[in-house]
Amino acid sequence: MDEIKAKGADVKFVDLGKVRIGFCQACEVCHQGPDCVLKDDAKDILQCMLDADGIVLASPVYLDQVTAQMKALLDRSSHFIHCLRLMGKYMAAVTTSGGGSGDATAAFIRRYAVTVGAQFVGVVHAPMPLRERILRRHESWALTWSRRLPAKTMWPEQVQAIEEQRKHFGRIIAFRKDQWPYEHKYWQEKGWL
Ligand SMILES: Cc1cc2nc3c(=O)[nH]c(=O)nc-3n(C[C@H](O)[C@H](O)[C@H](O)COP(=O)(O)O)c2cc1C
Repeated sequence: MDEIKAKGADVKFVDLGKVRIGFCQACEVCHQGPDCVLKDDAKDILQCMLDADGIVLASPVYLDQVTAQMKALLDRSSHFIHCLRLMGKYMAAVTTSGGGSGDATAAFIRRYAVTVGAQFVGVVHAPMPLRERILRRHESWALTWSRRLPAKTMWPEQVQAIEEQRKHFGRIIAFRKDQWPYEHKYWQEKGWL
């Protein structure tokens, strides 16, 4: 994080273990207007993601997945998914594990990135015990990350996957325009419908 800060980035760190994030109730109110029925810290964190140019999702591997806290946050972001709200942003993953693979967790985060329209930069996985080699990889990754942002790097296969996602949700948003007026309006304003 210091490397990125030294390059002039404004970095905001949110420890999901220290905030309150309730479980999505599947009430669909967030598709009708901007606010969730649950009043907790999710709103500010999601706004932070909307304001950012790049987002690093960092999680220990718990049963081959992100933590329940992170999953709860991402479940609360279904409006991001319907409207590909993180399009044009960059996302990366940092995972730690007790020695096992981080592949499934990283694949989940990568899939989330594409689902919300972001370009996925890559993953750093640090299995315990942490070795010098892994720390060096962290450093070089941070440098790559900070170089790629100004270059506006896009990965063609991700651009295509995001476009497929947009087509998929275009059909759903058009079909559910009466139930999800907030999202329908967003799509219209974007000129996507
Ligand atoms: C509930 C739970 C589930 C875990 N599941 C896995 C797992 O599936 N694979 C693995 O390698 N480590 C697993 N671990 C170990 C954690 O990933 C490991 O302790 C953590 O990444 C250490 O990093 P930290 O010191 O930053 O928390 C699990 C730990 C807990 C508490």
